[in-house]
Amino acid sequence: MLNEAFLSELRYKCDIESVVSRYVGIKRRGKILTGLCPFHLEKSPSFTVYPDTQSFYCFGCGAGGDVITFIKKIENLEYMDAVRMLAEQAGIEVPDERSDDLTKNKRIRMLEMNRLAGRFFYDSLMGENGKRARMYLAERGLSKNIVNRFGIGFADENSYSLVNYLKAKGYTNDEIKDAYLGKISQKGYMYDIFINRIMFPIIDLRGGIIGFGGRRLGENGPKYLNSSDTLVYKKSKNLFALNIAKNTKRDELILCEGYMDVVSLHLAGFDNAVATLGTALTEEQARLISTYTNNAVLSYDSDEAGQKATKRAVTIFDKTGIKTKILTIPNAKDPDEFIKKYGAEKFEILLKNTNTSTEYEIQKLFDTYDIENPEQKIEFLQKFVSIMVAISNPIRQEVYIGEIARKLNTDKSVLLAQVKLAVKKNTSYNEKKEINNIHTFIETSPLTKGDFEKQKFPKEALASERIIGYLWNNPDKLTYITEKITPEHIVSEFNRELYNVITERISQGLLPNLVSLSGVVTETAIGRMGEILSYLNEKGIADAEVDEYILLLQEHKNSKSKQDIGNLSDKDFENYLNTLAKNKM
Ligand code: CTP
Ligand code: MN
Repeated sequence: MLNEAFLSELRYKCDIESVVSRYVGIKRRGKILTGLCPFHLEKSPSFTVYPDTQSFYCFGCGAGGDVITFIKKIENLEYMDAVRMLAEQAGIEVPDERSDDLTKNKRIRMLEMNRLAGRFFYDSLMGENGKRARMYLAERGLSKNIVNRFGIGFADENSYSLVNYLKAKGYTNDEIKDAYLGKISQKGYMYDIFINRIMFPIIDLRGGIIGFGGRRLGENGPKYLNSSDTLVYKKSKNLFALNIAKNTKRDELILCEGYMDVVSLHLAGFDNAVATLGTALTEEQARLISTYTNNAVLSYDSDEAGQKATKRAVTIFDKTGIKTKILTIPNAKDPDEFIKKYGAEKFEILLKNTNTSTEYEIQKLFDTYDIENPEQKIEFLQKFVSIMVAISNPIRQEVYIGEIARKLNTDKSVLLAQVKLAVKKNTSYNEKKEINNIHTFIETSPLTKGDFEKQKFPKEALASERIIGYLWNNPDKLTYITEKITPEHIVSEFNRELYNVITERISQGLLPNLVSLSGVVTETAIGRMGEILSYLNEKGIADAEVDEYILLLQEHKNSKSKQDIGNLSDKDFENYLNTLAKNKM
């Protein structure tokens, strides 16, 4: 992490007004500046810069943050590269820039070592000792061609094959260990990490081998063994086979769970398949995918774990603005098995018939609304109707409508009529889309999208944001607030992120500032902070207000823990409903 002294110099020298005005025509309006947002198309200016807090916020698209966030977004850079760019323009030196050279050298050697290792594994597979491995791959239906395309190899049974080879090439024990290719035994011997495994090299977008996944051939060890993170490899930021899939002509990416699924799919002609590397999908991977496509097909295993992972992945894709389709694989445990059994054409049909994530969206409604509560039931049905409007196929529509009518004990024909009406309205709506958009922008903050907790508890989320804003302006009130409000009181994960970092900073005697924050919290959180600061600048928060927010969050936490107990008595449930009704006002 960057040190305080550097960040404060950067903040001082890179005034947000002068940096932003290089990219956006902004005009002064009193204490603030406004202009047309560079991050979305608009005709009237909703992009606002606040010199007082050195922040920006767009009321149109919700983009917000500090000067580093701005550069990151507008220049499409990683955090550190944005920092370097600003520092360079301001003529200040980024700390550790020189030790960077050392690191660079280490990285180059590690990549070269990985390349040699990949070649070594490949040669072993093709060599005399590779016969059993070759047979295994053939049994699994892999051609020589596909083996070559992926650079698949074999780590043989000998525990020293690779390390001896690498040592002979001049690499030290430490270097081999750091690359996660060898380990040092208790007696001090260096030995191979990958033994008797089929080796899948993980290749980055520039074609460098950055790590390996190894599938066990015998009985020893876990089924798959993956490289740990190293200087050149971060498994949360890379995807298996993206180096190939990025060149696909298809306009979507298929995300699966396993290496073998990907290889099978590519073999069957789906050169757009990728997989995470033995972990759940991360936000960084979703963002990486979003630079290539806005359409993803989730093709996880059909077991329960796979289905759970699917839901999590949809949530993450939602945040990134990627549209997801969910592919359900019938009669097989994973895509690999499905293709083996039924062939590529059948998979293509599956792919064509995966329409939307409708089921998932409906499930989300069940999770969000309590259908026993009449008011919430109405909201449920309104949301459901809008989901139905988005489905173009009338047969699919009818299936869902029938199912929901049954589950919610509602008249099917009434529901159907509602959907028809909404579809009709929607058509004329499209013409008025512009106006509508503006309305929604004013009514709901765009940043709410993808933040389910905030959608579910908008008032509590707002109260949390006001408290965060209040703390920001009144760091001396830290104890007053933290005595009453713990992170568990705060609603929505992004607000909790902010609350944690800000309270910690203040308790260390440091004032909160955006530039320091932007390196340690997620981009969504920094955007949220931009929004909060915009409110502080425009309206401010009075002492008296804060107590109300505190009360609201305390009540919310109480009712939440009651809910968690699940089996409320009828009386408690009635009380709970009453507080809900009261909170609604
Ligand atoms: N995985 C892992 N470590 C394990 C098991 C699995 O990292 N011990 C990861 C691997 O990336 C693997 C994926 O999870 O590719 C899916 O695992 P699984 O479904 O168990 O394996 P398959 O992909 O079906 O592998 P195979 O067909 O070779 O049995
Ligand atoms: Mn499998």
